Amino acid sequence: MSQTTPATRLYVWCSVLVILVVVVTGIVLSLVSKNHKQLQDRLDLAAHDSDGESELSPPSDRLEDGPVEVFTDKTLNEMLAPGLQEAPLQRVLDDLDILEELVMLLDPESPNSRTTRHLAARCSFPATWINYTYSMRDSKSPLKAVLEAVSAKWPDWTVGQLARVLADMGRNDAVKILARLPPDSREAL
Ligand SMILES: *[C@@H]1O[C@H](CO)[C@@H](O)[C@H](O)[C@H]1NC(C)=O
Repeated sequence: MSQTTPATRLYVWCSVLVILVVVVTGIVLSLVSKNHKQLQDRLDLAAHDSDGESELSPPSDRLEDGPVEVFTDKTLNEMLAPGLQEAPLQRVLDDLDILEELVMLLDPESPNSRTTRHLAARCSFPATWINYTYSMRDSKSPLKAVLEAVSAKWPDWTVGQLARVLADMGRNDAVKILARLPPDSREAL
């Protein structure tokens, strides 16, 4: 005797209904999340694209991550006194001897080492502007132009941040020159 009592039939129908609801919900959810992800990707892409055209971001933003950073920070602390690291970038521009030595190291274009061009690119200056400073090289050092522009745009930038970029560029020779700046303006007097 088959037991197709009304209760059994109700049970079967309920089970089928529950399974249907679960399957349909699953399909709908996966479609929604896929669309959401595509939308999110598109938004991310759009945000990223407009980044390129928007206002230049502070150079310090470009130095936030990566194991290189950790390494250079360690060596940097050995090379540069903490007081000097926190000194404003203007200190470099004010010390004409140090500035001149940096100019002689970094301005000459060389296929083997990173130069003022690389420094400027790291600080988000456009290639046309860098080329312009190099075209005016006879009247003003491109490095001086870059440091002045950085100092004007981001007055909070420190000697330590410049040193970090230079170390990251493989120019520890330039960092060593920075290290010779007097650590405190009072000691410079
Ligand atoms: C900048 O100058 C270099 C050569 O010195 C050239 O290859 C490059 O195309 C120039 N870039 C711009 C944007 O003018």
